[in-house]
Amino acid sequence: MQIVQDKNELNELHKSWRHHGEHVALVPTMGNLHPGHISLVELAREHAERVVVTIFVNPTQFGKGEDFEDYPRTLERDTRQLRKIGTDVLFMPDVETVYPFGIENATVVSVPGLTENFCGASRPGHFDGVTSVVARLFALVQPDVAVFGQKDYQQQLVIRHMTADLNLPIRIITAPTIRESDGLARSSRNQYLTAEERAVAPRLHELLETIGSELQNGKRDFQELESQAVATLEAAGFEPDYVAVRRAQNLEVPDRDCDEIVVLAAGQLGKARLIDNVVVTI
Ligand code: PAJ
Repeated sequence: MQIVQDKNELNELHKSWRHHGEHVALVPTMGNLHPGHISLVELAREHAERVVVTIFVNPTQFGKGEDFEDYPRTLERDTRQLRKIGTDVLFMPDVETVYPFGIENATVVSVPGLTENFCGASRPGHFDGVTSVVARLFALVQPDVAVFGQKDYQQQLVIRHMTADLNLPIRIITAPTIRESDGLARSSRNQYLTAEERAVAPRLHELLETIGSELQNGKRDFQELESQAVATLEAAGFEPDYVAVRRAQNLEVPDRDCDEIVVLAAGQLGKARLIDNVVVTI
């Protein structure tokens, strides 16, 4: 595995891959890799001869008072894991490479509509930071394929929208959520949980599964499902942000004959903001 910080060096590699007719898959991350990230890299490998993983803790997607400074940085461990699974390049650009004109003067890529609700409402500016950095990583790496996790459901939809709207010739692949054995979605932020909170955390996924089953059993009062779920989370010790039953394709309110539904939820549990979702066909 080559560790690259310089964009020209990456360009040279890219040129030689292209010359040999090889395709490139990109897996963007903020590091502190766990089995969720690793599964994305393994999936990427199935879609291209060359896999580039980026580690860049992107300052523009963190709000004021969020955990940018404290975000866990575990480069040595990350490098070891990536090497083991046969990553071709670990690209770790610095802020000046990603934002050459500086963050204050940076071009912002912003997807309207899809970013207004849910995580976009509670984290103002977050998705502009995500789309801006992903557009930049796409330009730097020029992949044929890019892999994102279903765990961040709204994020992958926003990125799909951006890619289609800008006519970027990149295929977006969404990888399934990797979970702990008790159902808790793997996340770098799980380490903020105390032992007590960790015991409560799987309730989020349990609840989503229950709502999924109720939908499959014919329940169609979506609002009632949402408000009951918020109360259940509160009772379990979460500060719920939202629970939403939406059309999987575009996060709009479903009508009764919509068949692909996503149930999305987010909430604060102690220091950790947890998010999760399930997709059901009804
Ligand atoms: P990060 O939180 O590091 O996540 C990187 C990728 O891993 C994302 O696509 C995310 O959805 C995926 N992922 C996280 N946990 C997962 C799990 N349990 N199972 C499967 N996939 C999982 O998301 C970001 O970084 C950033 O916003 C980024 C896209 C890199 C832009 O800065």
